[in-house]
Amino acid sequence: MSSALASEARRPEEDEVEPGSGLEAEGAPTGQAENFIEAEEPFDDGDSAVGDDDGASYTTSLKSVVTDYIEENKRRYHAARGSTYFLPNDEAELDRLDLFHHCLTLRAGGKLHLAPIDPTPERILDLGTGTGIWAIEMGDKYPDTRVLGNDISAVQPEFVPPNVSFEIDDFELPWAYSSKFDLIHGRYLAGSVRNWPRLIQQAYKFLKPGGYIEMQDFDMHFYTTHGEFKPGCPLDKWARAVASGVSAFGMDPHPGPQLKGWMQDAGFVAVKDNLLPMPLGPWPKDRRLKEVGTLDLMQFLDGLEGISLRAFTHTHKWEPEEVKVFLALVRREMLNVKMQVQHNYHIVYGQKPWDAKD
Ligand SMILES: C[S@@+](CC[C@H](N)C(=O)[O-])C[C@H]1O[C@@H](n2cnc3c(N)ncnc32)[C@H](O)[C@@H]1O
Repeated sequence: MSSALASEARRPEEDEVEPGSGLEAEGAPTGQAENFIEAEEPFDDGDSAVGDDDGASYTTSLKSVVTDYIEENKRRYHAARGSTYFLPNDEAELDRLDLFHHCLTLRAGGKLHLAPIDPTPERILDLGTGTGIWAIEMGDKYPDTRVLGNDISAVQPEFVPPNVSFEIDDFELPWAYSSKFDLIHGRYLAGSVRNWPRLIQQAYKFLKPGGYIEMQDFDMHFYTTHGEFKPGCPLDKWARAVASGVSAFGMDPHPGPQLKGWMQDAGFVAVKDNLLPMPLGPWPKDRRLKEVGTLDLMQFLDGLEGISLRAFTHTHKWEPEEVKVFLALVRREMLNVKMQVQHNYHIVYGQKPWDAKD
């Protein structure tokens, strides 16, 4: 988009698409009948936590050495992979990740993992741990287990259960752990991984025979089965533009549906893909899904700028102000319960064979 357009602060119209803007239509997402979530009828959001459209540490030793951050568009980013990891790592983003943790755990039926692991695991690894909230809760659930979380950003809390620790590491580099794990977990790494098959092969190598890998991740296409969401609407264009921006950084924006195949290719057995459609907004009839949808909406509203800024400004060359204007349209559609928008969350696990050699 031109800067002249930006200075007029004109909102992009639904079917006004400029080549290279990142908003070109792709194939329309299809409504998937098997993913049907029953909507509340008539819709009542009187008890919803969402009222308006504002949506508005480290292991001690590491705190001092990992301060390698940069600022862009008033958001803080990790610098070492600054040109490729698209999300910020500031307080606003960390709050969003913690909120999303509650949403995702609720969607998983209140469970932190679905893999049927040994009830007394020795060692668990959490890849790209973020705020470390999953690792900390796993440490509480399995007090005799050593839980290790790694991340490129040292943003984990200082005071954690004694069996939980964090390290700064790039999980795409060769791993150097001296002992193997019972469970290797990675959640919401969409947009963080360049080479998924290699990551999953490394996990295979560093699991004990009989150990499990569990990945929980997304297909970020939005769709509806019975609502008013239409391919090509601002929300659809936004999601596709974020995905193409992330792809341009060399990262896969939709790992969820591919996880099962990657695990099978790496040698894992009994691989199970649990496809969990996630409602966006408080429109479902089912109370638990209503809560999931409300939390998902809150994290999207909180995260809209953080999720969008790098993808739109780096890849699609928009001005930050243009992005903000466009996000107002996206925000409005996210809040429209008649659209009955959803997206797919996959919880996929597999087991390393007991007779595996390495
Ligand atoms: C979207 S967040 C998800 C955080 C956490 N897994 C969760 O579910 O709350 C992705 C995390 O992966 C981290 N990350 C991205 N690339 C990484 C890499 N190459 N090695 C380690 N961590 C990485 C980011 O810093 C960020 O904390």
